[in-house]
Amino acid sequence: IEKETVNVSHSLLEAGLRRRRRGYVRGGGACCTCLLLGRALLAPPPSPPLLLSAPPEVCVIFGGSRGIGQAVAQLLAQKGYRLALAARNLELAQTTANSLGASHLAFSCDVSKEENIQNTFKEIEKSLGHISYLVNAAGINRDGLLLRTKAEDMVSQLHTNLLGTMLTCKAAVKNMIQQEGGAIVNIGSIVGLKGNSGQSVYSASKAGLVGFSRSLAKEVARKNIRVNMVAPGFIHTDMTAHLKEEELKKAIPLGRFGEPHEVARAVVFLLESPYVTGHVLVVDGGLQLLI
Ligand SMILES: NC(=O)c1ccc[n+]([C@@H]2O[C@H](COP(=O)([O-])OP(=O)(O)OC[C@H]3O[C@@H](n4cnc5c(N)ncnc54)[C@H](OP(=O)(O)O)[C@@H]3O)[C@@H](O)[C@H]2O)c1
Repeated sequence: IEKETVNVSHSLLEAGLRRRRRGYVRGGGACCTCLLLGRALLAPPPSPPLLLSAPPEVCVIFGGSRGIGQAVAQLLAQKGYRLALAARNLELAQTTANSLGASHLAFSCDVSKEENIQNTFKEIEKSLGHISYLVNAAGINRDGLLLRTKAEDMVSQLHTNLLGTMLTCKAAVKNMIQQEGGAIVNIGSIVGLKGNSGQSVYSASKAGLVGFSRSLAKEVARKNIRVNMVAPGFIHTDMTAHLKEEELKKAIPLGRFGEPHEVARAVVFLLESPYVTGHVLVVDGGLQLLI
């Protein structure tokens, strides 16, 4: 057998295994063509074995340096994914990536800047290859009554939380279409579903994400790409560090703030559930039941 032919069959097998892991192919481990080619060309098993396991799936996490994004990164790293963590503070993103293992990379990116996003995706694709998963956990809040909110604070929240997610989804979908599949989870907020006094602009940015994610889910479903959302309540991160927890937790049926790793479990569930798309999963200790 020509060396080149064996290499071709390897790529087909790898692609087949990747597709099976994402739930696109039922049964045997690769598509029929791959299996037939694999059986014909790779038996008897040589040493070292030529039947390859699929390479790790690549997941890009915006806002992966700390808080909820970091918790998602930790869980995905434990499950064997290869990660690209993006945030404005490269040093912190690098520290987080290093803490997860040598195969994970950090990138500096401001999601409110389109060119920055495009360049970051080019770098990620060059270093890690195809992107299977995207998590949008980058977000900011500038809480205050509307009458006291400056226009620049409105713009920065909308640009980071809403436009930023639209732009990263656009770049990721372009890549996912080429490889016939993928999954996206956008982090919204319970405030985007229920509203909250003093958070009208933040709420608008997160409510916008619901319409965006559901519409995109419809748009890309035929390309085997799923789009879901997680809407957290109060979670212990830098974003909530200044809040009066003792007072606020009285309104939460489970009686406490959530932890980032508890949100991460919901994110990973949606990333890995092959028949769920267009869903908004609330992770709030029951807060939504009372507001
Ligand atoms: N914590 C909560 O209670 C809660 C509740 C509901 C929803 N959420 C949402 O969950 C997501 C994560 O929040 P968190 O609590 O984990 O916040 P966090 O601890 O403050 O982390 C925010 C992350 O977003 C990144 N980020 C912020 N602005 C960015 C920008 N322009 N470009 C790229 N990265 C940016 C930060 O890194 P850099 O600063 O280095 O850029 C950081 O990695 C946000 O969308 C937030 O709205 C949080």
